[in-house]
Amino acid sequence: MRALFVYCLSLSASVWGQSSIVDAYVASESPIAKAGVLANIGPSGSKSAGAKAGVVIASPSTSDPNYLYTWTRDSSLVFKALIDQYTLGQDTTLRTEIDNFVSAEAAVQQVSNPSGTVSTGGLGEPKFNIDLSAFTGDWGRPQRDGPALRATALITYANWLIADGNTSYVSSTVWPIIKLDLGYVVTSWNQTGFDLWEEISSSSFFTTAVQHRSLREGATLASALGDQSLATQYRTQADNVLCFLQSYWNPTNFFMTSNTGGGRSGKDANTALASIHTFDPAAGCDAVTFQPCSDKALSSLKVYVDAFRSIYSVNSGIASNAAVATGRYPEDVYMGGNPWYLTTAAVAEQLYDAIIVWNRTGSIEVTSISLAFFQQFSSSVTVGVYASSTTTYSDLLAAVQTFADGFLAINAKYTPSGGGLAEQFSRSNGTALSAVDLTWSYAATLTAFGARAGVVSASWGASGLKVPSSCSTGPGGGGSTVSITFNEYATTVSGENIYLTGSIDALQDWSTSTALLLSADKYPTWSITLNLPASTSFQYKYIRKVNGTVTWESDPNRQFTTPASGSSVINDSWR
Ligand SMILES: *[C@@H]1O[C@H](CO)[C@@H](O)[C@H](O)[C@H]1NC(C)=O
Ligand SMILES: *[C@@H]1O[C@H](CO)[C@@H](O)[C@H](O)[C@H]1NC(C)=O
Ligand SMILES: *[C@@H]1O[C@H](CO)[C@@H](O)[C@H](O)[C@H]1NC(C)=O
Ligand SMILES: *[C@@H]1O[C@H](CO)[C@@H](O)[C@H](O)[C@H]1NC(C)=O
Ligand SMILES: *[C@@H]1O[C@H](CO)[C@@H](O)[C@H](O)[C@H]1NC(C)=O
Ligand SMILES: *[C@@H]1O[C@H](CO)[C@@H](O)[C@H](O)[C@H]1NC(C)=O
Repeated sequence: MRALFVYCLSLSASVWGQSSIVDAYVASESPIAKAGVLANIGPSGSKSAGAKAGVVIASPSTSDPNYLYTWTRDSSLVFKALIDQYTLGQDTTLRTEIDNFVSAEAAVQQVSNPSGTVSTGGLGEPKFNIDLSAFTGDWGRPQRDGPALRATALITYANWLIADGNTSYVSSTVWPIIKLDLGYVVTSWNQTGFDLWEEISSSSFFTTAVQHRSLREGATLASALGDQSLATQYRTQADNVLCFLQSYWNPTNFFMTSNTGGGRSGKDANTALASIHTFDPAAGCDAVTFQPCSDKALSSLKVYVDAFRSIYSVNSGIASNAAVATGRYPEDVYMGGNPWYLTTAAVAEQLYDAIIVWNRTGSIEVTSISLAFFQQFSSSVTVGVYASSTTTYSDLLAAVQTFADGFLAINAKYTPSGGGLAEQFSRSNGTALSAVDLTWSYAATLTAFGARAGVVSASWGASGLKVPSSCSTGPGGGGSTVSITFNEYATTVSGENIYLTGSIDALQDWSTSTALLLSADKYPTWSITLNLPASTSFQYKYIRKVNGTVTWESDPNRQFTTPASGSSVINDSWR
């Protein structure tokens, strides 16, 4: 009790200041962020010249880094925010933008690209040129969250249209796009792919979480549209995905490990982002779906936030229970490995979402898993359920509100005058860095502000779900592999060998040190036969190694899509 009292006293002065700083930031930054989003959407956005109608550019930055492309993930998250604004009646001017997005996505789904065609894995292609032609350069592909996020954005719109009496437009135009995306999720959720930061090819918590959501709400929509057999298929796979989702939990250190591969700590903004983008205000503090106020999500948030306390100079001197600047993951080195506006905003948003639910249910539950999170604010708090009539409830609620505001206050502090939001700000001095006017930074700011004001989007059916007692694999995953023989014609000198490496786990994720040695039994043809995941596109190259020196084949990367079943032979020749 005494500890809590002292804490409240010591913070009271700065808290009042902080809350009004955040109020002022919300007031000044909201219109800038909204305009920043719209400026980056074609055809008439002021910073997106050349983008087709409905196309979201990631950022107008064309060098160091060049982000003048459209990513399915970023675009879908941005349009989910706009569709929420429209369907909640907050901005009735957005209809044309949204319909443009629908048309753009219908078109881009059909564009053949290095991940495949619309029916052979092309929906997993992460990014396109802003005229919607395929991007054919090297990239971390496929990324399997994009189709799920696009389905979720469009399902939100479709549900509103049906309620508005416009089922015909849903059936003719929106539902066909959603069906393609959910078909992709059904067949590919159980295969590896690159994570949301485009670096690690494995299974990723964010991807699995958004896939689950899309299938669950897709089943409800399929039912509403009278397609009971698709509804059943989606629901069956949603149950399987929900089962798999539980496996990311680290029961020793109490957080969701973000990726199954990659050799990192697994502490990553991935989890806060998963929580806010699968928030269902009707689902309470359910841990199975990782709701923002669930014990597992709060514990993961603490573990993630704490990972940045000592590594960024901008966080030095900040109390160990106060907000800090956060980045993607502590091991990040991209552009120097800095804090990001959108990850710091995501932490605030998760906490506001939690407060929304506590406000609704009138109680806060502290479990052995969330105890460390709550003890940051009151060292004497114990496991239990605290009703809104108790001082523990009001003290904890106020402390979490202060903590949440702290993250927005950090973003406010490092937002340059003028209000433009880049991708990152310097870990050493807070100067804005990397791509300017990042659309996702603006959208993340708007959704965090909305959550602070208690705005909630529609429920997606996360309430009361039961995890199956044993996990099943999906139709396109698990045991589904095909036999692929690689033949490479290459003359070599004595001591020299030919190896294979490529973009998927089974091809060693482009590693040269663990690249697969081919057999010279049929020299000068070198060969290897591998079991690879079915219906999967990948890139690969052969390399030579002699005396520790590695020589790559010349560009471009080679490309192949495995069949759904059976086997294939690939005949290549050194180039
Ligand atoms: C249905 O929605 C589409 C897309 O916004 C619109 O073009 C059409 O006029 C709407 N139809 C009705 C009957 O509201
Ligand atoms: C496929 O699903 C099974 C069952 O949940 C799981 O054990 C396995 O790790 C999954 N693999 C991938 C790549 O998703
Ligand atoms: C801030 O840090 C960045 C690198 O993180 C550096 O490039 C820049 O010069 C620094 N600015 C100031 C004003 O110190
Ligand atoms: C929660 O309730 C408090 C007290 O009614 C209110 O001030 C606050 O804005 C609410 N917060 C959210 C995020 O709904
Ligand atoms: C590899 O090293 C051996 C021993 O030093 C040498 O004889 C040989 O020429 C080297 N081969 C190549 C291709 O450099
Ligand atoms: C690959 O080469 C083998 C041996 O030369 C040949 O039998 C086979 O038909 C070729 N396959 C393809 C797909 O070109």
